[in-house]
Amino acid sequence: MKTVLVLHGPNLNLLGSREPDIYGKTTLEDIDAGLAAMAKARGGSLVCFQSNWEGALIDRIHTAKTEKVDYIIINPGGLTHTSISLRDALAAAAIPFIEVHLSNVYAREEFRAHSYLSPIAMGVISGLGAQGYQLALDALLKKA
Ligand code: DQA
Repeated sequence: MKTVLVLHGPNLNLLGSREPDIYGKTTLEDIDAGLAAMAKARGGSLVCFQSNWEGALIDRIHTAKTEKVDYIIINPGGLTHTSISLRDALAAAAIPFIEVHLSNVYAREEFRAHSYLSPIAMGVISGLGAQGYQLALDALLKKA
């Protein structure tokens, strides 16, 4: 059985009420529940983790390495555009990952167009809302 870790960065705990015109009305709980159901139906193992703290996300990636997690799906939130340390953690863990953004980061403010993570990601999905996570998980479960 392949295991997938889903990581959600800062402010994503507010999904549903946070700028719904940009991020949609689906809550993080609903996103995680949908992914868990999909993984279960297809024989995968899935764990979700959200933190507003960069260090907590980095610690979780380190733990994923020792747990031998097969793949990571990550929406790094604003850390996408700022965090060399998060990128370093993903590079050190060497766990293939897909970067997901609910919004189309290329159609927004210029500072959102740069990601420290994308150059080392397996793939990037941006602008498809909550469905982006499902597409990422589908791609990973097909690989597994
Ligand atoms: C986001 C895009 C980021 O620029 C922003 O800081 C977020 C959410 C997205 O899912 O569209 O927090 O990652």
